[in-house]
Amino acid sequence: MPVAGSTAGAVASAAAPSTGDAAMARPAPLLRIESLEKTYPTGQRALAGVTFKIDHPQVVAIIGSSGAGKSTLIRCINRLVEPSAGRVLLGGEDLVALDRKGLRAARRRIGMIFQEFNLVERLTVMQNVLAGRLGYVGLMASLRYRFPPQDIRAAFELLDRVGLDGYHDQRADALSGGQRQRVGIARALMQRPELLLVDEPTASLDPKTSRQIMRLIGELATERATPALVNIHDVALAKSFADRIVGLKDGAIVFDDTPDALDDEALTLIYGAEDWNLLDAADEGEGDEPSEPPGAGAAARAAGRGAAARGESARG
Ligand SMILES: Nc1ncnc2c1ncn2[C@@H]1O[C@H](COP(=O)(O)OP(=O)(O)OP(=O)(O)O)[C@@H](O)[C@H]1O
Ligand SMILES: [Mg+2]
Repeated sequence: MPVAGSTAGAVASAAAPSTGDAAMARPAPLLRIESLEKTYPTGQRALAGVTFKIDHPQVVAIIGSSGAGKSTLIRCINRLVEPSAGRVLLGGEDLVALDRKGLRAARRRIGMIFQEFNLVERLTVMQNVLAGRLGYVGLMASLRYRFPPQDIRAAFELLDRVGLDGYHDQRADALSGGQRQRVGIARALMQRPELLLVDEPTASLDPKTSRQIMRLIGELATERATPALVNIHDVALAKSFADRIVGLKDGAIVFDDTPDALDDEALTLIYGAEDWNLLDAADEGEGDEPSEPPGAGAAARAAGRGAAARGESARG
């Protein structure tokens, strides 16, 4: 029976350099969420005391039925939704306690990637990516889209990395869904965030593009040592590309473990009774790419690494 929080520590200790004094002086968790509550003005209790931590860079998939509280959780972290109670500690600082100014500064440390991409349609790919730096350059400079050369260089590098080399002058509204999401990913990473929050990044994409986008997010999170919290409906995708899976039900964590621990019993706990064999069949039948073993997480991404970098999938 999976217990909330049980494996996070185990995974962390496997990955962290853990010898002698260094282990004893382990820094604060990158993200710690304590007893987070959200009750909307309608009386709907969307989060019912959520507690977990991320203490090393990893991709954490949040799964759960529609209405389980996944988006509310993500949005409470950067206070797009105001929590009713609890704490959100990013690098030791409680974001819930911050005033407006403090919150603005803290939000620069968090990159967001959305289902609907949230690009400015009439602007170019490059302008959309540079928008990730708007919180850093002065207001006047940003209004004129004047960015320091190192920002421009970083934007070109990121575009190359996400498979959009040569697309910088294209308008956002001329891109496919997969390409738009690549721009969204590049924009989020332009902030050099300490944390990536990702809400349903593949919900409007076809299955193959979805895999490519999830792989890319995982690769970049690993390369940049940035933990990512990813809301996702697709359990097979979560199992393939996450290092850890958190299952939410009625606003509470009912599962927190590695992807290969997400068996039929756990799925039933999270979603209720269903014939989960159908899911396995769909998972196996998907294929025009080599299949990755469930639970491989970073290893699966490493195996697929290079395709996105070579830009093979930018057409998606
Ligand atoms: N602005 C709001 N006002 C009132 N209730 C809300 C609001 N946003 C969400 N809720 C409710 O809070 C609960 C959790 O919603 P949330 O959007 O977090 O779920 P979710 O897990 O992201 O669902 P989905 O998978 O459909 O995106 C639901 O019962 C929802 O109806
Ligand atoms: Mg949602």
